[in-house]
Amino acid sequence: MDTAERLRRIAVAAAAEVRDGMLLGLGTGSTAGAVVRELGSRVSGGLRIEGVPTSSGTAALAREVGIPLRSLDEVGRLDLGIDGADEIDPGLNLIKGGGAALLVEKLVALACDDYLVVAAAEKRSPALGTRFKLPVEVVPVGWRHTADRLRRLGFGLEPALRETGGEAVRTDTGHLLLDCAVAPIADPIALAAAVEAVTGVVDHGLFVGLARRVLLVEPDGTLVRLARP
Ligand code: A5P
Repeated sequence: MDTAERLRRIAVAAAAEVRDGMLLGLGTGSTAGAVVRELGSRVSGGLRIEGVPTSSGTAALAREVGIPLRSLDEVGRLDLGIDGADEIDPGLNLIKGGGAALLVEKLVALACDDYLVVAAAEKRSPALGTRFKLPVEVVPVGWRHTADRLRRLGFGLEPALRETGGEAVRTDTGHLLLDCAVAPIADPIALAAAVEAVTGVVDHGLFVGLARRVLLVEPDGTLVRLARP
């Protein structure tokens, strides 16, 4: 099945979880973007929702499809967050940040009463770090020194500055990203704590214990639902 049809199927299934009156966290990436588009068409049909976007790109898309937006600081708890992921382990821990939005994605995820991850089934892996590098968001000042401290942590991290067209990528909040090659991560909680303790680090793409439910779409379009016990 082609990618567009897989995205449509998962978007329709995710949008079916949304009830009238909900305040939603709107994720970033192609899968979350497909959900935003599907929600937009339901808003056109009369669904009343509001959304808190996780990136400037998602905010622009949500506006385009007619979803009313609120900023995170205008609201309290959100009913449901729907976001993508780059890697998903058997405990539903995630690596996120491929779309450079991990910090706001995590801030929004932490504010959600329920959090649904939507992804291609190929994102599953036996251990985080097997398929995807770990993005670490850092302040621009002294980033090379921060990268050295990450390298010396003892977890085998190999940071590389994320660039596009020869320019460092800046996040929506003005930070840089270090994509860290790493061996399969045996203890994501320990690694998360160690990375957070490094001066210069703003946050990282490990989302441990945040996803309650995961909706996957297989290459043939079959939907698979996983839930954290
Ligand atoms: C954004 O920073 C990421 O966390 C995305 O959620 C992730 O990259 C998933 O993107 P796709 O749905 O495009 O694979």
